[in-house]
Amino acid sequence: MDFTKKISLEKISGKLYKIKSKEPENNKEAVLTHYLHNHLNGYAKYYKTDAIEYTKEILQYKYPEKIITSAAAEEALQYGLFDTFEVPFPPTKNPKFKFIDLFAGIGGFRIALQNLGGKCVFTSEWDKEAKRTYRANFGEVPFGDITKEEIKSYIPDDFDLLCAGFPCQSFSIAGKRGGFDDTRGTLFFDVAEIIKRKKPKAFFLENVKGLRSHNGGRTLATILNVLRNDLDYFVPEPQIINARDFGVPQNRERIYIVGFRKDLNITEFEYPKPTNIKVKFADVKEEKVPPTKYYLSTQYVQTLINHKERHASKGNGFGFEIISDDSVANAIVVGGMGRERNLVLDHRITDFTPTTHIKGVVNREGIRKMTPREWARLQGFPDNFNIPVADASAYKQFGNSVAVPAIQATANIVIMKILSYDTKKRK
Ligand SMILES: C[S@@+](CC[C@H](N)C(=O)[O-])C[C@H]1O[C@@H](n2cnc3c(N)ncnc32)[C@H](O)[C@@H]1O
Repeated sequence: MDFTKKISLEKISGKLYKIKSKEPENNKEAVLTHYLHNHLNGYAKYYKTDAIEYTKEILQYKYPEKIITSAAAEEALQYGLFDTFEVPFPPTKNPKFKFIDLFAGIGGFRIALQNLGGKCVFTSEWDKEAKRTYRANFGEVPFGDITKEEIKSYIPDDFDLLCAGFPCQSFSIAGKRGGFDDTRGTLFFDVAEIIKRKKPKAFFLENVKGLRSHNGGRTLATILNVLRNDLDYFVPEPQIINARDFGVPQNRERIYIVGFRKDLNITEFEYPKPTNIKVKFADVKEEKVPPTKYYLSTQYVQTLINHKERHASKGNGFGFEIISDDSVANAIVVGGMGRERNLVLDHRITDFTPTTHIKGVVNREGIRKMTPREWARLQGFPDNFNIPVADASAYKQFGNSVAVPAIQATANIVIMKILSYDTKKRK
């Protein structure tokens, strides 16, 4: 069989799924890409059996006249039958540490951690469009629903750092303390369970600022209680970090929670200090923007303004701001109905958030909505980050994502602590 002929995994999977149109969403591509990304380190073993099975299926489809054995499939994989590395952010060579990327979205954590020399060994994200963006940038397809035991069973045993920007949910706290069992049925429970089973050296959790006051402070208190007392991690007081303090022109405050396994003997942790880099919207502005796609008519701008005034009188925030080139954008978010005050409350206009003045184009004021690339830059994503999805999905994905520079500055401190523990242990 000629294994030198490369097969596009994306194309062939598309065809296979079409034939088996009734097949439910499966994790075959996730298994295969995770295997390929780890086949030179010890982590491939977690994916190997299933990766070979899927490769057999693909080869059987490609060469129906041949009998494909497991050995042939494995050989095909070794020969590099699929290329999943022609992407802007391929896996880190000679990594300094290993991490897993949960609730991965489009990989904001992953970019930051790869920049710091980390290798991702497992990722999960269930949104189809977010997976598309993730794959186009990292060459790896995330596994799906992390609440499922089947998905959890793929998580490797030995990694240094667990990252998760998990959605915030209420706990129905039965006892006073708010312990592990009280969080059952929430996504935090799944995060806690993975920490409990795998005992990574450290974790880095991210959430909306509102987590602090959620349910009268009980949600955060429960989370901290579980992490500190049930899981026995050193967890310093969580910190609210503003993206604009780390070099992007966006006022985005998020709560960061880090923790270290007790045997690392880490008893102090300081979150990063704001940098003095001054940034403004002009620094991320795209100069050549197609007039018909992004500029708004004078009439439409007026409708938005009227609408906003009506909502303001009812005490609601409203989903757009008109900002000038030398100011800073509000937190970008799409479809965050009621998630936080002052964010987007009306789905119809979410992607006009925020807008900017550019004199003399299309409408009198030159007001347009921001482009997906500008949203990417507001979150600190580099310009070689691929945006393969339609604008509506792109806004949602960047709005849901993290501010990469703020994550990186914090993760850098976490990693330095882990690495210094590793060095001491080796001595
Ligand atoms: C706040 S976003 C995190 C975004 C991510 N940190 C990034 O940089 O893009 C939360 C993500 O969790 C995903 N999600 C929610 N429930 C999930 C589940 N049960 N399994 C896997 N992913 C899930 C959502 O689709 C969403 O993309």
